Amino acid sequence: MQIELHNLKRSYGSIHAVDDISLKIPSNTVFGIIGKSGAGKSTLVRLISTLEKCDEGEVYYGGKRVDNLKRDDLLAQRRRIGMIFQNFNLFSSRTAGENISYPMEIQKMDKTYIKKRVKELLSLVELEGRENASISTLSGGQKQRVAIARALSIKPDILFCDEATSALDPQTTRSILDLIRDIQKKMSLTVVMITHQMEVVRDVCIDVAVLDEGKVVEQGKVVDLFTNPKTAVTKDFLSNLVNEASNSDDIVRWSEGGLYTLRFKGKHTDEPILSNISKEFDVVFNIRGGGVQKVDNVHIGTLLCDIEGKKDIVEKAILRLEEYGIIVEEDK
Ligand SMILES: Nc1ncnc2c1ncn2[C@@H]1O[C@H](COP(=O)(O)OP(=O)(O)OP(=O)(O)O)[C@@H](O)[C@H]1O
Ligand SMILES: [Mg+2]
Repeated sequence: MQIELHNLKRSYGSIHAVDDISLKIPSNTVFGIIGKSGAGKSTLVRLISTLEKCDEGEVYYGGKRVDNLKRDDLLAQRRRIGMIFQNFNLFSSRTAGENISYPMEIQKMDKTYIKKRVKELLSLVELEGRENASISTLSGGQKQRVAIARALSIKPDILFCDEATSALDPQTTRSILDLIRDIQKKMSLTVVMITHQMEVVRDVCIDVAVLDEGKVVEQGKVVDLFTNPKTAVTKDFLSNLVNEASNSDDIVRWSEGGLYTLRFKGKHTDEPILSNISKEFDVVFNIRGGGVQKVDNVHIGTLLCDIEGKKDIVEKAILRLEEYGIIVEEDK
């Protein structure tokens, strides 16, 4: 189900939480919306999911306008949407199975069908046999799996995830993201991932929009955003990723320093570019750390290094690096 937003606006008093946002979210994909705290992500997701009315603008699902529906149609429309959140929003008084069956009970579906469907869903999220587990006995990752199963129980066309992995450790995050990606493919869902974590965008999204102060400041394929970030906000997110990754196995740092971050996309990986440039210009690359990340099946190499030499020569060497298609960021 393709989603289109036309000039959406929502203000709270003098705060323009969503300030004239137009976006096309293609069907059958994982679309990321990334932004810092307060950028307007949750407000935007409430507007897209028709949980909240916009002040101005239009929302379309599959070409049909949905933001101005009458009450009954709006309720029917909302049943085609699944949502999961950072804090899971499960009923602690109900078992895992009862949480999953809740949306189907509301719709007065047949009891035998519900029972069968709960079993199917538990197996889909790899929690077979846990229908009677009480919520308090589940880990964070398992709680999110129950929440995912509940969101999918009514077979939605669109799944909204608002910071769905923010409360989880990196390993659990990865397993939940893998699950979301699998389910997206299996059910041909449109998934909208709201996050402030670049690793979530890297690991699961195909397209992404960067939100800042209520506006979309940059959007495109995730691979392009990683190799050619245009705005300061995006560069900031990427440099946080490098710093965080330096503690994990993605990037290995073997000494302190590294004023420059070089990013190499796919095809260069075999060429001795740095040696060539070092010979051509009188500069020395002192490499401090590096690694390879995989973004949507394209390998992106990252090197943290210093470039030593006369200032004007260093500048020329950087230009030559850029001619090779390498992205050079200076840590200021
Ligand atoms: N119901 C509301 N009433 C008043 N102000 C609100 C309301 N909801 C959001 N805001 C304001 O709108 C702005 C955007 O908030 P929003 O929750 O959409 O940001 P966010 O990107 O989701 O942030 P976070 O990453 O912290 O969840 C903030 O300045 C917030 O204080
Ligand atoms: Mg939020």
